[in-house]
Amino acid sequence: MKILCLTPPMGFCEGFVEALGGEAHFIEKKKFPDGETYIRFPISVADEDVVIVHTGFPEQNDRLMEVFLAVDTARDLGASSVALVMPYMPYARQDRRFREGEPVSIKVVLEILAELDLDYLVVVDIHKEYSLSHFGPGAFNVSVLPYLAEKIKDEVENPLVLAPDRGATLRAKSVANVLNAEWDYLEKRRDRVTGEVTIKPKQISAEGKTVIIVDDMISTGSTLALAAKHLKEAGAKKVIALVAHALMVGDAEKKLKEAGVDRVITANTLAKDYPNIVKVIDVSKYIANFMKERELV
Ligand code: R5P
Repeated sequence: MKILCLTPPMGFCEGFVEALGGEAHFIEKKKFPDGETYIRFPISVADEDVVIVHTGFPEQNDRLMEVFLAVDTARDLGASSVALVMPYMPYARQDRRFREGEPVSIKVVLEILAELDLDYLVVVDIHKEYSLSHFGPGAFNVSVLPYLAEKIKDEVENPLVLAPDRGATLRAKSVANVLNAEWDYLEKRRDRVTGEVTIKPKQISAEGKTVIIVDDMISTGSTLALAAKHLKEAGAKKVIALVAHALMVGDAEKKLKEAGVDRVITANTLAKDYPNIVKVIDVSKYIANFMKERELV
């Protein structure tokens, strides 16, 4: 097996290779002056089982072009099998045609990967697991949220787990199980045109609690900030956000701090540096073990 790192999440390739054995090989890449993407495999992959490690953030469009080129090139160069470990799958939130005339973006991305003859795909906490049906058999979603919860379990006193919307309730339950805590949810609405988020008022008994708000991701921070504000008003002593992907776009950190979020706990699924409020937990070995257990590697 050859592990090829394309644009891997921060610190991911090192742990992944340590868990699976072998060596990490970094695919060369550059941008041509006109903005086009170039990649080159540094080793021969003929007759090898190739595992490409890559993330889809930041700069999703460039990351997608890179991965399309890499998967196809591995095939062309004679790899026996080609797998992709892509902890953050971009375009996953456009999983439906919310308004007439829109694309189902995640369908386009996954259909291209399937068409390129990728043998299997491993993603982390994809927005909606059912999207993976667009890839067909061989797509696996690993939720790292229970693992993150396990890692903070001893530091959390009097926890209450909260989903910021109904879509996040299963994730919240999985975290509540680990923390042996009660859970609840809020009802969020996002305006499909302006993107503005509102939360329906709801009585939550959060007095004196450490509230853990669980979601798949933070993008601009609007959802988490609104939920945190609500929880602080309901008497929460501390608010922790636990998310698989902390994109932290724009002034997300400021927004979260102002809303009373004390800490963001996340996994290393993105190729970026994180601001101070974020604590990053390495999930590379967890993903490697998932793949070993399923005999994918
Ligand atoms: C949406 O349904 C997702 O689960 C997240 O709640 C959302 O993407 C977070 O985005 P933002 O941080 O911009 O509110």
